[in-house]
Amino acid sequence: MKVLAGTSNSKLCKDIARQLKLKLVNSHIERFADGEVYIEINENIRGNSIFVVQSTSNPANDNLMELLICIDALRRSSAKNITAVIPYFGYARQDRKVVPRTAISAKLVSNLITNAGANRILSVDLHAGQIQGFFDIPVDNLFATPIFARHIKNKIKLNNLICVSPDVGGVERTRALSRRINSNIAIIDKRRPMAGKSEVMNIVGNVKNKNCVIVDDIIDSGGTIVNAAKALKDKGAKDVYVYITHAVLSGQAVEKIEKSQIKKLITTDTIDNSKKIAKSKKIEILSIAPMISEAMKRIANSTSVSSLFK
Ligand code: R5P
Repeated sequence: MKVLAGTSNSKLCKDIARQLKLKLVNSHIERFADGEVYIEINENIRGNSIFVVQSTSNPANDNLMELLICIDALRRSSAKNITAVIPYFGYARQDRKVVPRTAISAKLVSNLITNAGANRILSVDLHAGQIQGFFDIPVDNLFATPIFARHIKNKIKLNNLICVSPDVGGVERTRALSRRINSNIAIIDKRRPMAGKSEVMNIVGNVKNKNCVIVDDIIDSGGTIVNAAKALKDKGAKDVYVYITHAVLSGQAVEKIEKSQIKKLITTDTIDNSKKIAKSKKIEILSIAPMISEAMKRIANSTSVSSLFK
């Protein structure tokens, strides 16, 4: 078992290798002057099970291409099998045609990764569970819910909690968290009048005097969460905590969160945001490395990954 680090999240790769007590594969990844990716693997990997770790976060196209080229290099170097560890799987939100004549990019990206030569995928909180079926190779989809539940119990320690889904698509995830912390759920009826804008239409459930825990897979522009927090406060909620797996945090998202009615936003390091949030007083990061490395160990040893969540 060996781990090859892509360049999208070097800190996470090092943390994973440390947890596994392994050295990262000796490799060299750079860009040609025109931006093309170049990779060289500087050690023998013939016959090894290789895990290549790369989030397809911003710049999504560059990071995706780097992942594909790493997989190609591994395949041509006679790796026994290649697991693409994609902590944040980008392009996942385009998983169906919501309006006519659009692409299903999640399927295209799945095809690209498979055709490059990956034998297995390991990811965290895929935007939609059915993306697993876009691949014709095994996919292990991990969940950040146990990490969030532990944080709520040990750090937030509040009574009168209610878990809130910021849209109808997130209900299953919200229910999973509510079961772990023993709370009820509320659902926000969100509308997107155009891409990148969101509006709260209604809240299903009583949030008055409750400490709200919003849970979602992605925060991008921050619009969904900031609007949700305001709507909950307008309905008499006490404090609003937000738990998000993938902090995409585009544009002015961090500033929006700082100025919002959110008490605290807790996220993971599937995407490297250390610079963006350095000055934030509200954002806290929990490490996903122990969970990913444990899953990698179980894949390498052919033992159960799902039992991690029981
Ligand atoms: C949508 O289905 C996702 O789960 C997120 O709620 C969405 O991507 C967040 O985007 P933004 O932060 O730009 O509102």
